Amino acid sequence: MERLNRPRRLRRNQIIRDLTAQTQLNIGGMIQPYFVTDGAGIHDEIKGLPGIYRDSVDSLVKTMDEDIKLGIDKIMLFGVTDRKDVLATSGWDDKNPVIKATKELKNKFGEALFVSADVCLCAYTDTGHCGVTLEGKIDNDKSVAVLSKMAVKLAEAGCDCVGPSDMMDGRIGSIRKALESENYYDTIILAYSAKYASAYYGPFREAANSAPGKGDRKGYQMDFRNRREALRELQLDEDEGADIVMVKPALAYLDIIADFAANTELPVAAYNVSGEYTAVKLLAQAGLADEKTMVLENLTAITRAGASIILTYHLKDILKNGWHN
Ligand code: PBG
Ligand code: ZN
Repeated sequence: MERLNRPRRLRRNQIIRDLTAQTQLNIGGMIQPYFVTDGAGIHDEIKGLPGIYRDSVDSLVKTMDEDIKLGIDKIMLFGVTDRKDVLATSGWDDKNPVIKATKELKNKFGEALFVSADVCLCAYTDTGHCGVTLEGKIDNDKSVAVLSKMAVKLAEAGCDCVGPSDMMDGRIGSIRKALESENYYDTIILAYSAKYASAYYGPFREAANSAPGKGDRKGYQMDFRNRREALRELQLDEDEGADIVMVKPALAYLDIIADFAANTELPVAAYNVSGEYTAVKLLAQAGLADEKTMVLENLTAITRAGASIILTYHLKDILKNGWHN
């Protein structure tokens, strides 16, 4: 039988498949998230995120001692606290666990550890919203002022990179100006440029104790029916001084990642979020999927779509088990 084209020729064995593979995972582009809380001696596994812990500052420093040996050298910190008020004061005061942890980690590990930190108010406001609520409404510009203050405090603590995840208008520009005016010229802004209102954040909100008491986040996070709007947010964040632009969540938003890759010269990041992680964990625990294969498939898909940086809770498992080799 004469066939001019036989695509299966290139799938015949592993060595040919490796030769012709188009996409490679880049472990060096991955960032592991950590949750830091008040108190001491705390190292509690998070129910909704199997294998991920809530650590007090002292415990996080010990944990990092081990994790850096595994090869985790880029992290994103999220704060967890019971201290909440109208203005999210605990988000930037001296007792803030992320600020304390940043200082200790940078003191101990210096340039060997890239520390980034979430910049948002939802873990610190009494409403659980990402902005400040004044007279029953989320006040955009007041929120931006608090976020900018938080970013400066993080930079002062030695943070390499701030990640504003609040989706208030104009926050990238305001944070950039605040950093410049305090001479923090090297602080990288990783902008959550296209952050969608998503059900996939469920386990995170339990982990960070940051679920909104009333209402939802649809008044500031993007509507998942919208594609072009992501490019508008991308443009604004670029103009306002973002260094890296991010799409979040990742797996249901591969089209948005591809749009970003085609429309910016900046590095494109994607956040493989908590619900995406736990879905894999639960399927694997139930014996319904092979965890390693599913993790590599998901992260390769995010890379193939155009993200060169991935925030993922899976990084530790990948390195521990050598799944990437
Ligand atoms: C806070 C924030 C959230 C996530 C990252 N930063 C939750 C939210 O917006 O409700 C989600 C991360 C995840 O689900 O892994 N703004
Ligand atoms: Zn938030």
